[in-house]
Amino acid sequence: MPLEAVKVAVRVRPFNQREIDRQSKLVIKMDGKMTMIYNPETPNEDPKKFSFDYSYWSHDGFDARGDGTTDPKPGSNYASQRMVFENLGQGVLNNAFEGYNCSLFAYGQTGSGKSYSMIGYGANKGIVPTTCDELFKTMATNDDPNKRYEVMFSMLEIYNEQVRDLLSKDNPKGGLNVRQNPKLGMFYVEGLKKVPVGSYSEIEKRMEQGTQSRTVASTNMNATSSRAHTVVTIIFDQIIKTDNGETKKSSTMNLVDLAGSERADSTGATGDRLKEGANINKSLSALGNVISALADLSMGKKKVMVPYRDSVLTKLLQNALGGNSKTIMIAALSPADINYDETLGTLRYADRAKKIQNKAVINESPLDKLIRELKEENEKLKRAMESGGMVIKQEAGMSSEDLERMRKQMEEEIRAQLMANQAMLEESETTQNWDQKLAAAQKETHSLDKDVSDATRKKNEIYLINLNEDPMLSGVIVHFIKDGETSIGRKDAQPMPDICLNGLSIQKVHAVLTCKKNVVELEPMSGSGPKTKVNGVPLTSKKKLTHKDRLLFGSNHLYVFLNPKNPEKSEDLPDEITWEFAQKEIAQVKGFATATGAGMSKDQLIAQEQVLEILPMVSEVNAISEELNKQKSFDVVLISAAAQENTYGAANNTTVTVKMKNLLNGNTWLWERGKFMNRRYLIQDMYQRFLDGDDLSKVTKEQDPFWEPTEDTLIGSANVFLQSLSYALDFEDKIMFTDYKGQEEGYIVIHVTPCQKDGKALEEDAFVDEPHELLGKPYHFKVTVKNGEVYKQRFSKGIQVKYRVYKDDSFTETKLVKNTLKPEFKHNKVFTFSKITKEHLEFFEGGCITFMVYGTQEDTVPDPKLLKFTTRELRQMDQGSVPTSAAVTRRNTHFALETASDQSHLKTEVLLLQRKYERLAAKERRMQDICKEWDAKPEGEKQYEPFYRAVSAVAHSSGTRLKTRVHLLNQMLKLQRKSNENMNFDRSKTTMIPEEHIMKAEKYLQEKRRQSNAEESQKHSKKSQTDDDLISLFVFGEEEDDLHNEAERNGGVVHYERVKHHHHKDLPLARSQSFVNQGQVQSKNGRVVRSAEGQRKDGSSACVLQ
Ligand SMILES: Nc1ncnc2c1ncn2[C@@H]1O[C@H](COP(=O)(O)OP(=O)(O)O)[C@@H](O)[C@H]1O
Ligand SMILES: [Mg+2]
Repeated sequence: MPLEAVKVAVRVRPFNQREIDRQSKLVIKMDGKMTMIYNPETPNEDPKKFSFDYSYWSHDGFDARGDGTTDPKPGSNYASQRMVFENLGQGVLNNAFEGYNCSLFAYGQTGSGKSYSMIGYGANKGIVPTTCDELFKTMATNDDPNKRYEVMFSMLEIYNEQVRDLLSKDNPKGGLNVRQNPKLGMFYVEGLKKVPVGSYSEIEKRMEQGTQSRTVASTNMNATSSRAHTVVTIIFDQIIKTDNGETKKSSTMNLVDLAGSERADSTGATGDRLKEGANINKSLSALGNVISALADLSMGKKKVMVPYRDSVLTKLLQNALGGNSKTIMIAALSPADINYDETLGTLRYADRAKKIQNKAVINESPLDKLIRELKEENEKLKRAMESGGMVIKQEAGMSSEDLERMRKQMEEEIRAQLMANQAMLEESETTQNWDQKLAAAQKETHSLDKDVSDATRKKNEIYLINLNEDPMLSGVIVHFIKDGETSIGRKDAQPMPDICLNGLSIQKVHAVLTCKKNVVELEPMSGSGPKTKVNGVPLTSKKKLTHKDRLLFGSNHLYVFLNPKNPEKSEDLPDEITWEFAQKEIAQVKGFATATGAGMSKDQLIAQEQVLEILPMVSEVNAISEELNKQKSFDVVLISAAAQENTYGAANNTTVTVKMKNLLNGNTWLWERGKFMNRRYLIQDMYQRFLDGDDLSKVTKEQDPFWEPTEDTLIGSANVFLQSLSYALDFEDKIMFTDYKGQEEGYIVIHVTPCQKDGKALEEDAFVDEPHELLGKPYHFKVTVKNGEVYKQRFSKGIQVKYRVYKDDSFTETKLVKNTLKPEFKHNKVFTFSKITKEHLEFFEGGCITFMVYGTQEDTVPDPKLLKFTTRELRQMDQGSVPTSAAVTRRNTHFALETASDQSHLKTEVLLLQRKYERLAAKERRMQDICKEWDAKPEGEKQYEPFYRAVSAVAHSSGTRLKTRVHLLNQMLKLQRKSNENMNFDRSKTTMIPEEHIMKAEKYLQEKRRQSNAEESQKHSKKSQTDDDLISLFVFGEEEDDLHNEAERNGGVVHYERVKHHHHKDLPLARSQSFVNQGQVQSKNGRVVRSAEGQRKDGSSACVLQ
């Protein structure tokens, strides 16, 4: 038997809108059969190279035709759907006619283009429909009277290791059984519907039926379609009359759209205590193991066990993978840098798959023989049944119950086998039989017409059309709205609603649509108010619907309302409403900023995408918590990079986390996104079991995805910046620490002091003028956490501070102080850098130490009063305790923490300035002393040379030029401005530079001016005055260079309108007034301005605010 390797193709899709918005970089290149992938982290390194049977470039280089299909541009290597079919599908077809089994897999992460290649969208038909179409076209060319064809179609889905028949309305609880044919060794799905089809359009309708069934299931049962495998099977038989009777050539074509390959560990579920329980995609990992084992076998390794039995999918595809089948794998690749890891994973997977060798044989045998064998087999089975099943040897340790159970199981197997054989017999026996069956099936297929969406009705009638996160399942369910009332609710309501929805948070009678003269109104029924949303806003009373409105019922049923008879729409909406659009809107109403594109950092865009992805899941988990009365509430929490503790130098991004709160005692847990996803899956599973009637009271708390052991909770964190260390100055402050929302939770008193090795204070003059003077020398500093205060009573059980310095592997912890809200930590520790490097200095200049304050949580006995409430009531009470509008603003202010950090930054700066000022003052005193000495000397002893030396020694000792300070101040203003820009919401709400710091800076500068006036010449004084004024402009956000340039050009006067940031509309007047000083001008609109020179040049206002 000839061995044949699995054919492997890879295909890269175009960027999607999100990737374009994010200005993604392309990491894939193709050259002939070669595919290369570049690591975006190391763009100059050579790419990793892979070679496949086909490398399809579908990223760019195409023109769209009128019908939406694509053609390659002249000279481009673009691969269209047609080309992919011609290479892959045609081969499948030819093999089928020869009587080989064929299999086609699509592998890749969610959104990479699996369904596009397999099924296709709109006019861009994928391999499956085109192959079916061509199959019937080829069949039609047959003019051999001795040959006839039989085609059967089936479609199933594997989700969570359960098989669902997509062509059947009632699937048994727990799914269909997968059984093994003892004789052939092959696995099959018991009772799977195989529909005879007589034309391509029948297949098309059946596929629509299957897709609808997937959509309904994914919406009702809260299943994620990307976690399901869809298997379309076409059995193609050719019955040929020969002189010796009939022979049958049979080909089974398995067309498999696999679940998304994204690995759970890439999202961080690895840390979850329940990660083993959530076998998120057992079938997919089993497939990986099977492929690896088969690849090893093909490479000549001996004694490899191929673990087909590990999952449903691998059982069903046993033949396709390691046996009698010609197999093709198409691996779908995402082109963008952000998907690099997953895409590389896909390429490696494909690379392994191409090593597999299969032995396909032509399935052809005389029909008589087939029938005879089946009959014989049946007889044998029947006899076995009658004799009470197979003989089971009783093994040691087996109880009589075990024996009985095994016997029953065996019996069931035999019965199933008998039935399957019987069905096969019937199929095989007569032509007439087939024709009857086909006719019956066609009748049924035909009746599906009523269900499938009707293009002409959509033009003239009002309807709802569904949205799903999987684009393949969007627009699949249509509900036409008749005149009068249309009720929406659960199937078990009396009378049955016109539109039946199932699943979470759907009330019996949920809402009613009323249509009068083409005007439709939606009214929520009692209790469903917040569970019905129009355009993201909870519906409180009757509301008129407008064309393209987005309706959400319960937690998953999302629809677009379309009114072709009255198509004026409210706002400027996109042409096509997508799932993402509707989710964004819901997120916005909940208070999450969702600006797009321009001005947002990549980090923010990614965080936003994750929020949009996770929000509907959180709503769903909350709904399940209510339904199962779990007394837990879930909330999305964004933690800005600045609020996260990190080792110095390690990259930090805004992270999307979920907070679980125990509504009985207020304890909270923060779950990383991956952990939450994992739990959500387990929670869905638990809910499904609840729906199936399982007894959940037997679930132990260790198995319960809603349960977590209590852990210390992070109350808040505070950053201490370290610039003072680079001047060998100490820093001491009472700093506020804030929670992830930027809300103040208390303060701690921190000292950071440069010191000697043993922690003793440095001598007075250890001060350095320039940080680089420290290079190469040893350096010691002491961190002291003195005491603090926590505001919330519930943290009085125990408080502890943890921090990490520079690149320390572990945290330094203070002692745990119990039973107080005002802990005295009295902690100190000396840190040593044996030789200061540039990086150390950078750490001092730009780094910080994050002090994290933890509170002990205890599993306290809940207040018995609370136990009386349902989870729904508890959640309402919990939400009620926070004023909603404030909560909404606060959500947006996750960057507020950066502002808080800036404040701490500012404090350090001001402190530094003060220190430097003190030094200057000391210098001044010294100079005055020298002068006094000089004065005091008798005229004859006055020697100019030593006097000059003394003065210049003092004068040059400092090196603290105003410029340095200006630079520092400018730096921090830049920071401040950046953090303001980060917040894409009302600026006036943000904290600007605190007044006291500005005052301090101002005071210092005035002091400095007085000093320099006294000391220096008139010319110099003018210069320094300009510098002062420039500083006040910096406070308004101007760039130093711009101001200098403008001043130079214009005789020392800065016209405000000439500089970039002159229109600080948001800067409140009150703040500007802190600069009230000589030389200011009150402008027309009341804003306070003054010239850079501090003087009016010609007696009038030199600077007018525009
Ligand atoms: N080769 C391609 N050309 C154009 N668009 C594509 C291509 N592949 C995928 N897409 C688009 O990308 C999106 C995700 O593709 P889909 O096939 O649904 O992904 P998957 O099934 O892998 O989750 C869809 O909107 C689809 O239209
Ligand atoms: Mg898909």
